[in-house]
Amino acid sequence: MRGRITVKDRVLLILEENKGNTISGESLAKALNVSRAAVWKAMKQLQDEGYEISAGTNRGYCLDPNSDVLSMQGIASYVRATPQPRVMVYESVDSTNKLAKSLAIDGALHGTCVAANTQTAGRGRLGRSFFSPPQSGIYLSIILRPEIDITKATLITTMASVATATAISDVCGIETDIKWVNDLYYQGKKVCGILTEAVTNFETGKIDSIVVGIGINSAPPNCDLPDEIKGIYGFIPGSFSFSRNQLTAEVISRVMELCSAIEDGDYSFIEEYRRRSMVIGKKIDVFKGGIKHDPFHATAIDVDKFGGLTVKYDNGKTETLTSGEVSIRLND
Ligand code: BTN
Repeated sequence: MRGRITVKDRVLLILEENKGNTISGESLAKALNVSRAAVWKAMKQLQDEGYEISAGTNRGYCLDPNSDVLSMQGIASYVRATPQPRVMVYESVDSTNKLAKSLAIDGALHGTCVAANTQTAGRGRLGRSFFSPPQSGIYLSIILRPEIDITKATLITTMASVATATAISDVCGIETDIKWVNDLYYQGKKVCGILTEAVTNFETGKIDSIVVGIGINSAPPNCDLPDEIKGIYGFIPGSFSFSRNQLTAEVISRVMELCSAIEDGDYSFIEEYRRRSMVIGKKIDVFKGGIKHDPFHATAIDVDKFGGLTVKYDNGKTETLTSGEVSIRLND
């Protein structure tokens, strides 16, 4: 059930929509049909929550243009999707994917999103964990209920990386490469990982919904990196030039748009995936079922129309890999 919308929520939405501009207490009170004292109280609560709001006698209130508190209202002020998806924002959760999966089981609607400022047990592919420090990342899960044949479900994973890469391009002004299946790299370092999980209906055994989990390193971390990711971890430069709310909203908008495209049979985003691929034409090592066996040496040939990676092994055989339990390592 949705929580009650408070004066504070409504004040925040107006501030986010007018970030950097001063609005008088009187006009806020009028727009929200509440007293000026109620507006003042909401401002105080928001300031206590960490929002940088300047307030001066007879000057009104202004949300600092560099404010980067992740919030439902901040995201909503940028999302372009109708109907507006429900976005739940938490300070800290164990895993937004875990929470989204339980919401999906409870019947959450197509497009419902869970975002958090930090995760204590962020999940990665192949049973790995995903480092999720506070304030410097976007940890987002989107519940999708696409009307598509199950055989097309792999396209959701492919689509999510194109949606995220193009959102990063538009909002942050940098171009990321896609390492199959769906890691995004910038200047040779991983800046984003995506974990797509299916929620199966216990009674019918059919896929009921898909949870797309997206983790973006949006700023330098404010703590030490775990040893195992020190060589590979990267982050998006210039974090002061964009807000996490804006980037989160752009990712959500694009995922929703491309999901509709898939439902309409339009898979043209695969072209963008190929353009950004950092593996096509490259020598790779293939690992099946985790990295516990000697690698199979191959060359990545192409990404097929369902997002599978066609490879040619050194023994001449070709195979199209689907994401499941497969991982690859690029050979320089
Ligand atoms: C990977 O790199 O192996 C995939 C990482 C996916 C991380 C995201 S962060 C939001 C969502 N919640 C999780 O627990 N995982 C995904």
